[in-house]
Amino acid sequence: MLNETDQLRQQLAATTDTAKKSRLGQFFTPSPIARFMASLFRPSTETHCRLLDPGAGIGSLSLAFLERCQNGELCFDDIRVDAFEIDEVIVPHLLDSLQEAGRHTASVVRVLPTDFIRAAVDSLLGNLFTAPLPRYSHVIMNPPYRKIRNDSPHRNALRQVGIETVNLYSAFAALSLALLAPHGQLVAILPRSFCNGPYFRPFREFILARAALRRVHVFERRDRAFRNDNVLQENIILLLERGGQQNDVEISISTDDSFSDITIHTWPFADVVDLSDHQLFIHLPSAKADDIALPPSACFSLDDLDIQVSTGPVVDFRQKAYLQAMPADQSVPLLYPGHFAENSFTWPIIGFRKANAIERNSHTERWLYPTGFYTVVRRLSAKEEKRRIVASVVDPAGLQGASMIGFENHLNVFHCRKEGLPESLAYGLASYLNTTAVDTCFRRFNGHTQVNATDLRNLTYPDRETLQALGEWSMRQRDLSQEMIDAELRRRVG
Ligand SMILES: C[S@@+](CC[C@H](N)C(=O)[O-])C[C@H]1O[C@@H](n2cnc3c(N)ncnc32)[C@H](O)[C@@H]1O
Repeated sequence: MLNETDQLRQQLAATTDTAKKSRLGQFFTPSPIARFMASLFRPSTETHCRLLDPGAGIGSLSLAFLERCQNGELCFDDIRVDAFEIDEVIVPHLLDSLQEAGRHTASVVRVLPTDFIRAAVDSLLGNLFTAPLPRYSHVIMNPPYRKIRNDSPHRNALRQVGIETVNLYSAFAALSLALLAPHGQLVAILPRSFCNGPYFRPFREFILARAALRRVHVFERRDRAFRNDNVLQENIILLLERGGQQNDVEISISTDDSFSDITIHTWPFADVVDLSDHQLFIHLPSAKADDIALPPSACFSLDDLDIQVSTGPVVDFRQKAYLQAMPADQSVPLLYPGHFAENSFTWPIIGFRKANAIERNSHTERWLYPTGFYTVVRRLSAKEEKRRIVASVVDPAGLQGASMIGFENHLNVFHCRKEGLPESLAYGLASYLNTTAVDTCFRRFNGHTQVNATDLRNLTYPDRETLQALGEWSMRQRDLSQEMIDAELRRRVG
């Protein structure tokens, strides 16, 4: 059944228009992921299965769950499935596939062609005019992803049941958790952004107060889970147990949805969530246990080092009138990520698709930095880049004697009180940021695809002398490979 549904999924992914997909958050789960998700449910003493699939699409997740029941891996006296789906175009497909699977597993299947948020809120509020939903023993979900506006009916409905959240996916997850029976299990595939996004703090608090985090699965490649739909978003899979006692957490990692290189490690809960941290960030290691820590001597903040990092202040579309394809009188270099390639800096670039220069005048003056050595980090890493953090150095020798520099908004700039850094420090900082140790640590704490100045402020660094020595070493090298940088950091800081 699931294999047939997979064909339908691919057909719908190719034929549904993008506007509808994004309006309904409609990205269907491929069968390998659906099966993996269903495999995470742990056998329990529960004899009555009440399964909830909110935002069920064409039913791939319920089907994967029922497949496990059919294979005898999960045993219940009776199974009832509630599948919510708001899109009337796909409801008939959902009905077909679930009814057939229901026959094979002697399950009672209900397809509810209605808004899950409204139905769940009504049920939780005990609205007398709507039939209450059962307390579910299992939830399997890949919820829609879309921001919820502060003044929207959904947001108001959610507030009535004490859920304050900013996206449909977290709303679906919070409501489903609220509908779970004690010791009920919830398996969800969710964007990783909720683990540390500041807006998701109430959501993190909501789930951590009600459930034990049992298992997390991380995909190492952010473009792999929903590749047919071109979804470039890091997704993780969670297993939560309502009201369970929080013990260690299992964290598994695979490159992609083939799960062929999966590794699993068990982590003390305190390593995953620090309950004394007001933000309640969920830290997910993205490498083996022994690879993740930064060297203990790299314990200095940027403040300690008297270095600042800022987002490049020139927002090009706001300064359109002053942009110039090539440098001319009265203009200064404008630097974009495109001016930096691995280990090299080229300016100006002939035929560059962005501007190379910006006019220096009374409007632009305040956005410019005096010429000097600066370390820059791209805010968005290119898909093919192995590391998330990609750092380079601006060498003033390549700027044709310009007195000022404009940094475009897609770069983060390390500076010393708005001026350049000593040359060796700029190179040392870039080398340090380009190490595998920093990248791994960064990924552990950060699920975004962006590297923001705040993220760079939250990292710790070696002391200034060590950074300068690392910089002097890197300036002496002709070609710098990843292995060389990693080995040099180990040699200097252990
Ligand atoms: C990300 S898709 C996942 C579908 C399915 N769970 C799967 O894994 O393939 C989310 C689904 O939720 C549906 N949906 C969106 N908003 C909804 C709502 N308010 N109530 C019920 N379903 C909704 C969409 O139409 C879409 O089919």
